Amino acid sequence: MKRIVIIGATSAIAMETAREFAKAGAALFLIARNQRRLDELAQDLTVRGASAAHTATFDALDIGSHERILEEAFHKLGEIDAALIAHGELPDQGQCQRSVSRSQETITINLVSPIAFCTWLANYFEKRKVGNITVITSVAGDRGRQSNYLYGTSKGGLAIFLQGLRNRLTPAGVTVTTVKPGFVDTPMTTHLPKGPLFASAETVGRRIHKAMLRGEAVVYTPFFWRFIMLIIQHIPEFVFRKMKL
Ligand SMILES: NC(=O)c1ccc[n+]([C@@H]2O[C@H](COP(=O)([O-])OP(=O)(O)OC[C@H]3O[C@@H](n4cnc5c(N)ncnc54)[C@H](OP(=O)(O)O)[C@@H]3O)[C@@H](O)[C@H]2O)c1
Repeated sequence: MKRIVIIGATSAIAMETAREFAKAGAALFLIARNQRRLDELAQDLTVRGASAAHTATFDALDIGSHERILEEAFHKLGEIDAALIAHGELPDQGQCQRSVSRSQETITINLVSPIAFCTWLANYFEKRKVGNITVITSVAGDRGRQSNYLYGTSKGGLAIFLQGLRNRLTPAGVTVTTVKPGFVDTPMTTHLPKGPLFASAETVGRRIHKAMLRGEAVVYTPFFWRFIMLIIQHIPEFVFRKMKL
């Protein structure tokens, strides 16, 4: 994989994956919200070995801009081998319960925007009969919990979308990778008390790089989250609804 597009490139996790690709001399097209941070990242990745590090800004709420940005990436890189979609927000659940527009914003950033990017990328890779689309969802999408079900809805919906997309693209030789991290110590979780279940962005970012190279289907990271979520998914509903999760 030599030509990679990273959307939400300034996410702590995505930056670690980008570093792995840079070490291997890949050409990168980095898309994120903040140009100054993109410039710093591009410089860092070039020093680490990236053969190119182009940048473009976007706002996930501006769905209409997504196709134009990907066309720019295609133009700059010539061809694309793989794309990582990493942007997302963890909203305050209480705010979402009080405000439909706040809920709608989360659904747009975490679900509609990745779907828009995936739609374009899927059609592009399907024609080429090769490629990988990797998207970061979350273990929070595996079961709705009272403490974060708006976030969980956006990530769970995205996981179902990716499942269908993988089913569609497999005959064309295109891989779709769903990444489900547990707790990761990044700016998104600075407000949460840290515990032994927290992984570093480096661990998760490196695992994503490996999964992209292998074209894996569903990746829980760290791996033990697969077992934790299996247990959580199998708690009977009459017990689960009484639990304070
Ligand atoms: N940290 C965790 O515990 C955890 C667990 C499971 C899944 N995830 C998922 O992992 C992915 C990466 O998150 P992270 O942990 O690396 O946190 P992060 O460093 O806070 O990254 C979040 C990224 O999303 C971008 N973003 C948010 N709203 C945006 C918008 N409207 N338009 C464009 N970009 C926007 C942020 O841009 P700015 O830098 O400009 O704000 C940032 O680059 C997310 O999809 C997250 O849901 C994280």
